[in-house]
Amino acid sequence: MAAHSDDFIDPDSIGVNASTEPSIGELIERRLSRRDALRGLAGVGVAASLGSPFAVTDAQAQVNGPSTLTFKELAHTLDDTQHVADGYDMQVLIRWGDPIIGGGLEFDPATLTAAEQEKRFGYNNDYLGLYPMPAGNRSGDRFLMVVNHEYTNPNLMFAGLGSGRGAALKATKEQVAVEMASVGGAIIEIAREGAGWKVVPDSKYARRLTATTPMEISGPAAGHAKMKTSADPTGTRVLGTFGNCAGGSTPWGTWLTCEENFHFYFDGDAARLADTELGKRYGVAKATNAWGQHVDRFNFDKEPNEPNRFGWVVETDPYDPGSPPIKRTALGRFKHEGCTYALAKDGRVVFYSGDDERFEYVYRFVTSKAWNPNDRAANKNLLDEGTLSVARFDADGKVAWLPLVQGQGPLTAENGFATQGDVLVKTRLAADLLKPTPMDRPEDIETNPVNGRVYVVLTNNGLRKPDQVDKANPRATNDHGHILEIAPKDGDHAAPEGTWSIFLLAGKPGQDAGARYHRATSENGWLSCPDNIAFDSKGRMWIATDGAPSAAGVADGVYAADTLGFGRALTRCFYQAPTGAEVCGPIFTPGDTTLFLAIQHPGEDRNSTFEKPSTRWPDFKPGMPPRPSVIAITKKGGGVIGS
Ligand code: FEO
Ligand code: CA
Ligand code: CA
Repeated sequence: MAAHSDDFIDPDSIGVNASTEPSIGELIERRLSRRDALRGLAGVGVAASLGSPFAVTDAQAQVNGPSTLTFKELAHTLDDTQHVADGYDMQVLIRWGDPIIGGGLEFDPATLTAAEQEKRFGYNNDYLGLYPMPAGNRSGDRFLMVVNHEYTNPNLMFAGLGSGRGAALKATKEQVAVEMASVGGAIIEIAREGAGWKVVPDSKYARRLTATTPMEISGPAAGHAKMKTSADPTGTRVLGTFGNCAGGSTPWGTWLTCEENFHFYFDGDAARLADTELGKRYGVAKATNAWGQHVDRFNFDKEPNEPNRFGWVVETDPYDPGSPPIKRTALGRFKHEGCTYALAKDGRVVFYSGDDERFEYVYRFVTSKAWNPNDRAANKNLLDEGTLSVARFDADGKVAWLPLVQGQGPLTAENGFATQGDVLVKTRLAADLLKPTPMDRPEDIETNPVNGRVYVVLTNNGLRKPDQVDKANPRATNDHGHILEIAPKDGDHAAPEGTWSIFLLAGKPGQDAGARYHRATSENGWLSCPDNIAFDSKGRMWIATDGAPSAAGVADGVYAADTLGFGRALTRCFYQAPTGAEVCGPIFTPGDTTLFLAIQHPGEDRNSTFEKPSTRWPDFKPGMPPRPSVIAITKKGGGVIGS
């Protein structure tokens, strides 16, 4: 969700972690500079030590510097459309409202009903995943694409709501029903067509998840007293998913969609919540949209436990259109950004997940059993058993994974954790007792397939005060974010510890204190608010941003950098989004010949309305509002993206 517009509430700006530890209080520089020295030029360049923030040596002044990425860098741009580096093509694959189930008429937002929206591509596309079609196919020509639909911008979807914070609260009952049908997720089938891609019409796999789709609840918190409602006295069945930000996949080919800012959908009197401590720790207080006005279960005065049934990771099998999505409670309840996997040495599966809010934590889940690559059915419930841990980033460069296991340490009945279900429903409160490191908004966490290191993207935290600085979150008023790099001990993702270092500190070198990249980073190569990342098959990092400084004429975009060698952390601008949009879900096809991006909330700008949006991308048709869309980027004439 955008962080740059005053007119929209930034969901993550309201830190609710009261246990934020004070600073470690030491300067970070000594350890970092020692590491940089060990890496030589390959280390993170300290731009501030140069005469000019963008000064480069003669050798580095060559077109690409020491980067292995050979595309001609794009200039920072901010206007009503999208831009990509020279030599690349962009194609809009699918837009909000395009029919995906049962054909359908051309999209007309003025006549859109909930029943119609349920058959069409949803709003605010975020995470993207690709599943070969048929399963196991290596041609790279046909996939099931899964897409998260995170939230809605009612003032850009419907006429007459105006702009600003109050607009969403004015939505009618019918409009709320459309909103509920436009969030969640989508499964579409796509195939290569010529140099680009097409959506396969009427695919039997096409499917929408919405805020009303029946889902199951499994794992240790299923049936927990706090999961029971009047509609579901068993605490094992729930309607829908929303706040679906990032996600992940599993080695057995299922889709994980993550519930992030679920608290915005619930309204009521927070002082009268059955469990005020729990509600407060998750920010359940005041809705920012109208759902609670029109649908009883979103009013917690009427249905106090309904908020507890959100904030989970939802597993869906895209290859089985009839299978119910399942909320896997063993992975914990928080504002999950994503959930990405790596394999432990013994074949168990390790999932990394960030809790995207200021001063929240980084988590890891390790399955109890190993993945069975020869028997898909045997992996069906692998996510129901395992160990959830939370990360402490120590000043000496060690990261420790602290297990959230009932009965261990402070997680006792006396402290309110009588069962593992208690630990999971109240994950944040359980984690607080273990004293993990409060981070600068953990967004995506991804493992580099080439070097095996884990990258934790911390998007920003303008609320961190000087006395709250620590070595892993080294800047007060961190408006631009940073990226950490973790090396699991002995390369084993299930090891109880590892080491960490800083990959880059975002912001404009020379202007934003402490911004640090490779010293050859150009004046277009710096970035702000890293959010989702992807690795190409060479292990190079592609960084999508959410919250670029529009006042500086910079749109959110995509930046690419080597992670190894002389071009390490030399970020280069590849793509710039239309005004108001953030870039989500970067994912490459095998062989890196197509890069798919989800362009979310185009036109989410101050004073932007349905009638007068700041952009009408991608249609630019009079009367048509901006439409969140998935795009495909290919190299002109074919070839490897970035080369
Ligand atoms: Fe929905 Fe964490 O961005
Ligand atoms: Ca974000
Ligand atoms: Ca995100």
